[in-house]
Amino acid sequence: MIEKNSSLKTFNSFSIDAHAHLLFHFQQLSQLPELLTLIKKMRSLNKPVLVLGGGSNTLFCNDFSGLVIKVELMGITQSEDELHHLLQVAAGENWHQLVKSTIQQEIYGLENLALIPGVVGAAPVQNIGAYGVEFKDVCVSVDYVDLIDGELKTLSNEDCLFAYRDSIFKGELKDRTLITSVSLKLPKQWQAHCRYGLLKDLDETEASVSALQIFDNVCRIRSEKLPDPRVLGNAGSFFKNPVVSANLAEQLLSHHAEMPNYPQADGMVKLAAGWLIDQCGLKGKTIGGAAVHKDQALVLINNGNATAQDVIQLAWFVREQVLQKFAVLLEHEVRFIDALGETNLQRVINNV
Ligand code: EPU
Repeated sequence: MIEKNSSLKTFNSFSIDAHAHLLFHFQQLSQLPELLTLIKKMRSLNKPVLVLGGGSNTLFCNDFSGLVIKVELMGITQSEDELHHLLQVAAGENWHQLVKSTIQQEIYGLENLALIPGVVGAAPVQNIGAYGVEFKDVCVSVDYVDLIDGELKTLSNEDCLFAYRDSIFKGELKDRTLITSVSLKLPKQWQAHCRYGLLKDLDETEASVSALQIFDNVCRIRSEKLPDPRVLGNAGSFFKNPVVSANLAEQLLSHHAEMPNYPQADGMVKLAAGWLIDQCGLKGKTIGGAAVHKDQALVLINNGNATAQDVIQLAWFVREQVLQKFAVLLEHEVRFIDALGETNLQRVINNV
């Protein structure tokens, strides 16, 4: 189904009222030839094409002048081998519903990733992660349509080049893939992961800790700390946690001994963007209808009537304040989409 000049307000968790010139609801693989013809036409007219999942990590900076493809492919196939549960999940399935249904079926391994907004097809793109587990830990392979040659292809876990909030789909394959499904492998011999931060209270050495307990705890912590996008528009963590040199981390720690820091295998040190923003006194800071969340500084919210420009100005302000105070440049995790396709904060702000 194709819509013209369609509002994207309900298709982005920031609830920004941008419009798409064309909106294609991709619900069946059988629509692929029609979709590929349309993409070809858009390309010949020099119009941009955007693949949209749940819109939970997307900021529409203004109306989109090309074709938005809303991925709504559904279906889950389950099988098993001696040691694993195997799931093939279509890209349009809701991520949290998937996590919930596996737990209900006593298939464990996704519990740490509960309540992450968005759809399954978006999970590999930014290698979603929370509480010590990342998508890459459960992924076998990713199926996608190559939008350049129209072919259906599969990438193994290794070929996806997963890293912290990163993958080949944000790099070499950016703008040329439409993920159709993912294959997951969950060991029957379940292993708890609760060493991370707020899950530490559940002792993973204790045999009694269950996946359900972890699931419940993650849901509780996330509901307490992160605003529900259905109530208050937001896109989860707005910025990535910055990874800095050991030298800079040491200098910062000499002034701020309490600064959260996570040394990485390669010698670099990951810092907590939320803490850095919080230390700048920015919780609750408002520009127009956009605000830094009062409880979690890493989340920017739409107070109800924010324009994309409000959010952009606020993001820029936050970035500048952190840069001035800590000499750390925050990179946004949220995708900025302007009329002509994807862009970055620096470019957007230059055009404001
Ligand atoms: N902190 C503050 N003030 C704040 C926010 C955080 O001082 O306003 C401190 C916390 O006290 C803690 C540290 O910063 O010491 C880290 O905070 P937290 O454990 O809440 O995690 P985070 O770094 O803010 C990351 C992910 C989240 C994920 C959580 C849990 C990124 C960018 N964000 O947040 O992912 O749920 O860890 O694993 O990596 C998302 O990507 O949208 C997301 C929510």
